[in-house]
Amino acid sequence: MAKKKNTNYVDLKTKPIPEGKHLLEVDNLKMYFHTEDGVVHAVDGVSYTLDRGETLGVVGESGSGKSVTHMTIMGLIDMPPGKIEGGDIVYRGESLLEKSEEEMQHIRGNDIAMIFQDPMTSLNPVYKIGRQVGEGLRLHRGYSKQEAQERAIELLRLVGIPNPEKRVNEYPHQFSGGMRQRVMIAMALACDPDILIADE
Ligand SMILES: Nc1ncnc2c1ncn2[C@@H]1O[C@H](COP(=O)(O)OP(=O)(O)OP(=O)(O)O)[C@@H](O)[C@H]1O
Ligand SMILES: [Mg+2]
Repeated sequence: MAKKKNTNYVDLKTKPIPEGKHLLEVDNLKMYFHTEDGVVHAVDGVSYTLDRGETLGVVGESGSGKSVTHMTIMGLIDMPPGKIEGGDIVYRGESLLEKSEEEMQHIRGNDIAMIFQDPMTSLNPVYKIGRQVGEGLRLHRGYSKQEAQERAIELLRLVGIPNPEKRVNEYPHQFSGGMRQRVMIAMALACDPDILIADE
């Protein structure tokens, strides 16, 4: 995956981690939702660190804020109603909370990828699977349509989807729940991310 888009943007994942810093630091993160019924303290002071090569499991009961924590890292929480009330998310020494939406678009999928909990809300029902799996490669790597399609077939094969040459041209509703989950994994792996967040 050496191919690079002709852009001035430097992948954060190629940046050395500053001395004394971790790959990812979630520091006393607070994300509240301001709703008509009051304030929901969805994430209320979460801290953890992650180093290279490490696998970290985050456990907690349903509704304890696991998905919201990780959607916040990805910059995918709508604000409002969400609001960061405190804390920081530091990736390779840089605060993600200070990044612009444009910078976050480079980071998402390319540096930090997420396998979402609910594939049906993350896969677009009107686009073929191949296009969705290859989207990141087109966006971040400058792959042509043809190259992205070929790589999408390889990725689907890698995650154990039979007959990927045919399956790339199908739509999400033609996949079973388990197969959709595999498609989500293929999408997340496409750009060889530095951090992979698996939400279940
Ligand atoms: N957009 C929103 N507006 C208001 N409250 C929200 C919103 N999104 C999430 N919440 C609330 O935030 C809290 C944390 O939800 P979250 O989805 O992170 O839980 P979770 O730990 O991932 O649970 P599960 O194990 O069931 O996936 C819940 O109380 C949820 O209702
Ligand atoms: Mg969840």
